[in-house]
Amino acid sequence: MRVVAAILLSVSSAFAYQVTSPGGSQGWTTSGPNYLTWNRVSTDPLNFTAVLTNTNTTVMPINNQVLNALVDGTVGTIQCNPPSGGWPTGDGFRVNLAQDAEHLDSLLAQSDQFSITGSTTTGTSTSTTSAS
Ligand SMILES: *[C@@H]1O[C@H](CO)[C@@H](O)[C@H](O)[C@H]1NC(C)=O
Ligand SMILES: *[C@@H]1O[C@H](CO)[C@@H](O)[C@H](O)[C@H]1NC(C)=O
Repeated sequence: MRVVAAILLSVSSAFAYQVTSPGGSQGWTTSGPNYLTWNRVSTDPLNFTAVLTNTNTTVMPINNQVLNALVDGTVGTIQCNPPSGGWPTGDGFRVNLAQDAEHLDSLLAQSDQFSITGSTTTGTSTSTTSAS
C-alpha cells in the first residue's frame, strides 16, 4: 500500500505539460502563422515561456530564442512570435516550455523535433557555410 501511494504521489506531482504541435511532420514556416499547442493538467504551473531551440549552430547560431514569455498555460494554443531576426529555416528544431524567461534551462516540456521551411518551398534551398 505504501508503495502504491508513493507512486501515485510522484505521478501527480510530476509536471505534465505536453507539447502536441509542432513536432515530427507538423513543422513551421517562415511566413507563419506558427501555432504552439499543448496539454496541461491542473497541477502544472499556470504559465510558461516558449523557447525555440536548435543544437545545430549552423541552423540557428543563437540557441534558446524566446518566442513568447509568460504564456497563459490554460489557453492550450498560441500563435508564436518570430524570434528577433525572423524565423530561421532548417531541421532539428524543438520548442521548449521553460519555467520562465529567467530559467530557460528549467523545462516543463519539450516538443519533438520539427522543421521550419521557407514560404516558397519550390526547388532546393542552397546555403553555403564557410568554416572560419
Ligand atoms: C505564473 O505561474 C506561477 C506558477 O504557477 C505563478 O506563481 C505566477 O503567479 C504566475 N504568474 C502570472 C503572471 O500568472
Ligand atoms: C547542421 O545543419 C547543416 C545545414 O542544414 C547540416 O549540413 C549539418 O549536417 C548539420 N549538422 C549536424 C551536426 O546535424
